[in-house]
Amino acid sequence: MSVKIDRKNQIFYLKTRNTEYIMGVRDGKYLLHLYYGKKAHEPQLLSYTGRHDFAPYVVEESGKYYPDCEYLEFPVFGGGDFRASALKVRDLTTGGDSGLYTFVSAKRIRGRVSLEGLPYAEGGDKTETLEVRLEDKVSGGLLKLYYTVFPECDVISRYFVLENKGKGELRIEKCMSLSLDIKGDELDMISFQGGYYRERVYQRAPLIHGNQRVYSRRGASSHSFNPFFMLASKKTVEERGEAYGFNFVYSGNFLDEAEVSWNGTTRVLVGLGEENFSYLLKKGESFVSPEAVMTYTAKGIGQVSRNMHDFVRNHILPPEKFPLRPVVLNSWEAMYFDIDQDVLVDFAKEAVSCGMDMLVMDDGWFGARVNDKAGLGDWYANSDKFPQGLGAFVDRVKAEGIKFGIWIEPEMVNPDSELYRAHPDWAISTPGYDPMLSRYQLVLDMANPQVIAYLKESFAKTFDGVAIDYFKWDMNRNMSAVYSAVLPPERQGEAAYRYMLGVYELFDWFHKTFPNAMIENCSGGGGRYDLGMMKYSTQIWTSDNTHPDKRMYIQYGSSFGYPTEVMSCHVAKLEECEDPRFLDYRFRLAMNGPLGYELNILKASDGAKAGMKKQIEEYRKYEKLILKGDFYRLLDPYETDGKYAYYFTDKEDREILLTFLQNFGTDKPETYTLKMSRAIGNATYIDKITGKSYEGAELKRGIKVTTDNRDQYAVMFHFVRKRII
Ligand code: DGJ
Repeated sequence: MSVKIDRKNQIFYLKTRNTEYIMGVRDGKYLLHLYYGKKAHEPQLLSYTGRHDFAPYVVEESGKYYPDCEYLEFPVFGGGDFRASALKVRDLTTGGDSGLYTFVSAKRIRGRVSLEGLPYAEGGDKTETLEVRLEDKVSGGLLKLYYTVFPECDVISRYFVLENKGKGELRIEKCMSLSLDIKGDELDMISFQGGYYRERVYQRAPLIHGNQRVYSRRGASSHSFNPFFMLASKKTVEERGEAYGFNFVYSGNFLDEAEVSWNGTTRVLVGLGEENFSYLLKKGESFVSPEAVMTYTAKGIGQVSRNMHDFVRNHILPPEKFPLRPVVLNSWEAMYFDIDQDVLVDFAKEAVSCGMDMLVMDDGWFGARVNDKAGLGDWYANSDKFPQGLGAFVDRVKAEGIKFGIWIEPEMVNPDSELYRAHPDWAISTPGYDPMLSRYQLVLDMANPQVIAYLKESFAKTFDGVAIDYFKWDMNRNMSAVYSAVLPPERQGEAAYRYMLGVYELFDWFHKTFPNAMIENCSGGGGRYDLGMMKYSTQIWTSDNTHPDKRMYIQYGSSFGYPTEVMSCHVAKLEECEDPRFLDYRFRLAMNGPLGYELNILKASDGAKAGMKKQIEEYRKYEKLILKGDFYRLLDPYETDGKYAYYFTDKEDREILLTFLQNFGTDKPETYTLKMSRAIGNATYIDKITGKSYEGAELKRGIKVTTDNRDQYAVMFHFVRKRII
């Protein structure tokens, strides 16, 4: 059982394979956090921090209760706890804070409770949920906390529902789905910052007293910070030490907080935040927060990653649409907006001869889309480019024996479009202010049901009877002056959240309407690389930056919170791929996720095409390991000036695929020892690439690789276990 309720002592236990989470009720009222860590015979329960400098208290039979000095399970603002809170609710009858939520009941639920309108992790047979109810007797707020346990990957998810059971109105002014109080004030925070073309840059820094945040205020989870982050003890490294991982199953604005307090505690919070969110709850209404997830391990940062990888694979990603991920040829870097159907049919022919599986027609096929200044919103095929229609063109592509994918950007509109001219009020803008452009486009108000209905209708019409296997769903700007014309003034704080509900509704509709098509997500590269998008997208376009010098770091950063199977990797830039060595290097680097190509295949030399064909054959040999294997990072490119090494191994420990990459040549040879802890000590392995034999103990101690004096150098080893001695 993963959820256990001890009713007599009012203690609630959540158990995963290796961890345990405990909370309890004090004085029949206050929900306290008691433990989160590895499974222990008798876990060391947390209790009062021992100090109460200026802290307010309530006198209870058991003694004074100081909220600010306790490990709280779900801190609500205004209740005498001065640390960052999970929830802030204003009681609009009095204008005061609805701040004292006390225990009502707890129950165990088999399976999980679905979140209306929001993406959430799918439960399996082994999933159980704990529901804890709290209430604020004054305002009538009923707070239901949900904890769902995913035992095999050591993940626990959390969200809440707030119901207004009172007589007046409530307004949520801060919403955090997860709160965790940790003993101690000496952790490091590992988070991922970045920008367009430089996504998920790893950063690690000690927490100091105060509140440290990563966030998005852009209406999308964004390139700037990723919602995934970790906390780790000072000495924690890849395969050793205590670490926590946190993430948010949501794609819009978010706030991650880590706050070190005066009383020697660290509080972690994950949620929508307070800056661009508020939510009005009229009598009888309720609000559902997005889901947040957490994991804990004593086995290092790498194990946090592997827990998260398994969690995403087993509980987040949509079912596979094809037996194997299609190796795509994408038109963007070859054609940009100059879509030409005859050229694309030739692309398809060449792609087939190279062993590729899918042709993706990127931007430029619809409306007046001849550049990025016009056409977004007009989702019908451009008749100059497709005089016989889209369907006839797709049939020609498919006749070549290849799948077909198409680019869309549903959430956007160019002012120069028929849609905008007909419905200017469907674009987000605050009344009285001129809307601000980005890439010549505006954001549609996805909180408006009419917008969603229009999009469904136009995509249904355009793609009716067209055999589409894949959609690349892009999003190329962030939101400013967020406002929804369909919401009253007192509900404008809900606009960004309701926007996301509209986006998710449309994703859901795509899956139902085109059940055979997979979705690849994109937001100017990896600007929405998050668990919300992953719920609907089989893979995500990692970054527009495909240059190895930068790509290596983007892939490294992306691997911490997300499995390689979502990390779409393209071999791109024809000029550089003409040199066989560089073509090979790009491929070795790309063998870190689902493979694709993005170049003008008609201009490629016979040598380059033969090279790509061989690459695809090689990729197929290792695909299962790369997409589904356990991933171990060995070298950090930041510490080694552009050397990266990692390996994949299957769950049964039968084989190990080890890669060493070096962006720049070194004047003097440098030697690195690459240790494979998952090798079985008393087994013999054969490297299938060189035929050389190795003892498992030797692989555990590490094999040595030496750098080359040339740029872009890679070596791979494929160790297959021979027999157990
Ligand atoms: C941004 C994406 O990242 C590119 O791959 C491409 O699809 C363009 N948008 C098209 O406008």
